Amino acid sequence: MKPRIGVLTSGGDCPGLNAVLRGVVLAAEKLGWEVIGFRDGFEGLLPPGDYAVLDRKCTENIMPLGGTIIGTTNRGHFISKVAAGDRAVVAMEVIEQARKVLREARVNALIIVGGDGSMTTALQLQEAGINCVGVPKTIDNDLEATAMTFGFDSAVDAVMDALDRLHTTATSHKRAMVVEVMGRHAGWIALHGGLAGGADIILIPEIPFDFEKVADAIRARDAAGNLSSLVVVAEGARPKNGRQVKREMKEGEFRLGGMGDIVAREIASRTGKETRTCVLGHLQRGGAPTTLDRILGTRFGVKAVQLINEGQFGSMVSYQNYQVRHVPIADAVNRLRLVPPTGEMVQTARDVEISFGD
Ligand code: F6P
Repeated sequence: MKPRIGVLTSGGDCPGLNAVLRGVVLAAEKLGWEVIGFRDGFEGLLPPGDYAVLDRKCTENIMPLGGTIIGTTNRGHFISKVAAGDRAVVAMEVIEQARKVLREARVNALIIVGGDGSMTTALQLQEAGINCVGVPKTIDNDLEATAMTFGFDSAVDAVMDALDRLHTTATSHKRAMVVEVMGRHAGWIALHGGLAGGADIILIPEIPFDFEKVADAIRARDAAGNLSSLVVVAEGARPKNGRQVKREMKEGEFRLGGMGDIVAREIASRTGKETRTCVLGHLQRGGAPTTLDRILGTRFGVKAVQLINEGQFGSMVSYQNYQVRHVPIADAVNRLRLVPPTGEMVQTARDVEISFGD
């Protein structure tokens, strides 16, 4: 009987997850392991265990597919979201149930593909003696321990494509178009997407903005004869002395969102300009992965199996200096990577006349 690797995808989905799964399965076969995939994130670890063997047949032609063939969730019994510095923990009886399911399924080690919340759970499992290896995933690109996560490039591509389309309608109508994008507390998607898509104003959480400065930038563009403007607003952006906007999805469960509409209203009332809002939402998470995400996902999947094969449990795959390496999961959790407000990217954006409304 071959030794077994379990794999699960957890948290919000993103393009490139299937590339990871394919990489895991093919690398595992090569090294003499069998792979089983747990369905719907950590929930698949609950008794009686919801899993299926993943072999090369299951991974044929899945590379271009967005989402994840084994499902995911960012809710449920194992949820431990990290936002601003607190480490949530999963109930010990849930961990014990998972341990029993893993033992009965003959799993020697578990690959957890997820963002910061999922890595916190991975760390807790590891500390409870369950062999884990993490693979960082999020469109937000906000994990300190890796220079890049897969899914980010595809999300940025979606923002760029949207801005390319909005340019023409904004120009025809001489309007200001406000585009709200994802990213939670980090402005990476807004900054990269806005830069690539030729935005005129980018508002990010790391640089609190002033509504009047945003209006000034639009007026200045109008005065120079640029009668349309594209404004990218990160969902986590906030005005100076103001707050982020959150919506309650169900009792006690919040998601960022709504700042785009507020910015659009303020622009319209302060400048008199016709203004429209477009919330890109989950379009940024769907669809086929970009070349970069397919390659990064494959490399991450293969590396995760190699780490298990070497017994490097408790580590997370990490991308550093164009190399796929690994770091302790413990070093990865609870450390968000935010846009440096005076960094080169922001400065470059300023140098091509992008305003941050500050
Ligand atoms: O973390 C990824 C992300 O897409 C964030 O950018 C966004 O705030 C959140 O997930 C949306 O979550 P949900 O899919 O639950 O609406």
